[in-house]
Formats: sequence, structure tokens, C-alpha cells
Amino acid sequence: SVDFSTFTKQTGHTSLDYGFVNTAATRSAITYIDGDQGILRYRGYPIEQIAKHSTYLEVAWLLLYGDLPSADELADFDDRIRRHTLLHEDLKRFFSSLPHTAHPMSVLSAATAALSTYYEDQSDPNNPEHVELNTIRLLAKLPVIAAYAHKKSVGQAFLYPDNSLSFVDNFLKLNFGVLAEQYQVNPVVSRALERLLILHEDHEQNASTSTVRLVGSTGANQFSSISAGINALYGPLHGGANEAVLDMLARIRDSGESVERFVERVKNKEDGVKLMGFGHRVYKNYDPRAKLVKESADEVLNELGVVDPLLDLAKELEEIALSDDYFRERRLYPNVDFYTGVIYKAMGFPTRMFTPLFAIGRLPGWLAHWREMQNDPQTKIGRPQQLYIGAGERDYPVS
Ligand code: ACO
Repeated sequence: SVDFSTFTKQTGHTSLDYGFVNTAATRSAITYIDGDQGILRYRGYPIEQIAKHSTYLEVAWLLLYGDLPSADELADFDDRIRRHTLLHEDLKRFFSSLPHTAHPMSVLSAATAALSTYYEDQSDPNNPEHVELNTIRLLAKLPVIAAYAHKKSVGQAFLYPDNSLSFVDNFLKLNFGVLAEQYQVNPVVSRALERLLILHEDHEQNASTSTVRLVGSTGANQFSSISAGINALYGPLHGGANEAVLDMLARIRDSGESVERFVERVKNKEDGVKLMGFGHRVYKNYDPRAKLVKESADEVLNELGVVDPLLDLAKELEEIALSDDYFRERRLYPNVDFYTGVIYKAMGFPTRMFTPLFAIGRLPGWLAHWREMQNDPQTKIGRPQQLYIGAGERDYPVS
């Protein structure tokens, strides 16, 4: 018998590559990663510099159009996005058809797919004006949908977007404002959230971006493709890990189990338990984003005056794991999601909003890849091969 989990077979032009570990499905000029060196660059700019100096919308422009915007270009982009934040009132009613217990990621993907129904005559992937308009629409409306999914889950009324506010401040107000006129944005929270969103904006051919490209390669429009990307992101091995990390930390704290014992269970693979927020397909050295998030965690919690024992627990787990042969041999380090949850929690977001925050962060990358794919003359419909291992031909039994 053949172990297909480790077997790579070359038959003519077909190779078996579970998880696409060695197979490039495209070329791309958007993001560069060197997983061994821990390097991440957006359009050539190191993530450390981008995170320090840039804004979410500036990075979105960079990813979409290839270069940093001029001041006028950025102002115009920002203005266009502010003018598209409103959702159709009918779409707002769509939320009331869903249970308040719905996970915000399910609401986000369903409502994003539903956006398509409002713009069917303006969603031709081959029409550059449609593509541009729907890029703006998605950037403007996805945060509003995510905030409404949050509001619905806590039983509060939806606020209208306040377009006098910046992208991030508007999002914070939609989430945390109760009486619109009384809400004051906390600048510490605003800058910290902007930084986290920037760190998530692109990460080349991860599972959700590859999904967006695959769906888009069929000629599906941006709304359908992005909705599919949101679904791919939902899983705990991908974007859902930020929620899973906080659940894991809370479980350890509540069970009274020692961190050492938990790590032992991970190493023994008891019940398939993993150290969530650790390991990465590409980074076999420290994830450069995780370094920046870890710095932010201390800063933000200090500035907000929040003391969270889960942050100490996370640091203890990291310290034990990094000095353990199991993790060293497998080159498992904290990834971007290990510390994000602690920060989102300190900002007041419920755990189930963590992955929607990732989706808002990743949206510019998804859109940039969708557009790059459309403009690449080499693009073909994505269609992986398989190696058939089932029964040979046999006759249907006729009695
Ligand atoms: N905890 C314990 N062991 C782990 C972990 C982990 N977090 N991650 C990998 N391993 C082990 C595997 O069990 C395997 O061990 P083995 O050689 O004894 O069989 C070995 O390390 C290699 O792991 P793979 O699963 O082959 O690595 P892969 O590259 O396929 O998976 C992944 C990467 C999915 C991220 C994995 O590390 C994981 O599940 N991590 C936890 C979930 C997580 O944090 N996901 C977020 C990823 S980042 C992002 O999407 C933004």
C-alpha cells in the first residue's frame, strides 16, 4: 500500500502535492515573503516600516495600484470610500432574518454575497469601471456589515456611518457607539487597531486569498469571490485562529491546568490539541507580524490601563514552547494571531468579532489579488488535477 500523505508522484505533468506545499499557482507582484528569514514586504516596503508610518487606506492603495498614493490620490480615495459606506435599507433588513446567535463570520460572508444582488448590472469582471466601483464599495461596506453583525449579536441598534470620521474611527463608532452623538473615539485604540489591520492587509497565497483567486478565475464577480474568501478565512487553522487562541487561553485559566501540562498534551497530540497561534506554513522563523503585535499588546494594555492575566499566560506559553525541543525541531513560532486576541479583547471586542476584524484587514489584499489575476493574460480557470485511487471499471449488477 502507498502512503499518499507523503508520496509525491510525477506522472507526466501531474504532481501530487497535498496542501500545495510546493506548487505555485500564479506569479504575483504584490507581496514578498521569505519564511526562513522572517521577511514580509508589501510591494517592496518592509512591513516594519509600513506599520510604523502608514494608514490602512494608504496600504490598501499601495496593494491595489502598486505604488504609494500622492496626498491628493489618497484624499480622493478616502473620500470615495466615505461616500459608499451606506448599506441599502433592504440589506439592513436582511440582518433581522438571521438569529442573534449567528457567528459574525457567517453573517459577514452571507451579507457580502448578498451585496451582489444590489449591483448585478454593475458587476462585470471585464468592465474596469465596475471593478473600480466595486473595489470602493467593498472597502466601504465590509466594515459596516461587520459592525452590524456585532451590534446584532449584542442586541443593539445599528448606527449610520459617520462619514466625518476616518475609516478606523468610523468603524469603532459603528461597533461601540450606542447614542451616536455621545461617542468619543479613543485615539490609542484607533491607532492600535489601524496598525493591526495594516499587518493583516496581505499575505500572498494563503488559503483565503487562493480561494478568492480560484473563485474569481471562473469569472465570478468581486462580491462572490470575496464572500468565498471570508468563508475560507473562518476556519481555525487560518483566520479563525485568533478566536481559537483566546478560547484556548481562557480554557487553560479556567481549568486550573498548568501551562507545562497543557504543553505536554500538545506535544503528545492528545485529542489533536494544538497550540493555537503557533506555527505557519511559510514562516519557519519568527513571524515578523507577531513581533510587532507582541510589542503592541504591552503598549495598548498599558495605555488603556487594562490588566489581563491572559496576556501573562500567553507570554508564559510562548516562553515554554520556544525552549522546548518539540517546537524547536518543527520550527514552530508564534504567528500573527497569537497576541492579536488579547489586544482586541482589551479594546472591547467580543471574541467572535476577532476573525471579522481579520477579514476587514485582509480585504485590500484579496481585492488586489483578484484584480491582478483578472489582468494577468496567463490566468486560466483554476482546476487542480487528482490522482484517482478508486475502483477500476466494473459492471453494474443487474438481477
Ligand atoms: N501546535 C502543535 N503542533 C503543531 C502546531 C501547533 N500549533 N502546528 C504544527 N504542529 C506540528 C504538526 O502536528 C506536525 O507535527 P508532526 O511532524 O509530528 O506530524 C508539524 O508541526 C508540522 O505541522 P503541519 O501541520 O504539517 O504544518 P502546516 O504547514 O501544514 O500547518 C498551520 C501550518 C496550519 C498554521 C499549523 O501550524 C497550525 O495548525 N497552527 C495552529 C493554527 C494557527 O495558529 N493558524 C493560524 C495560521 S496563521 C494565519 O492563518 C494568519
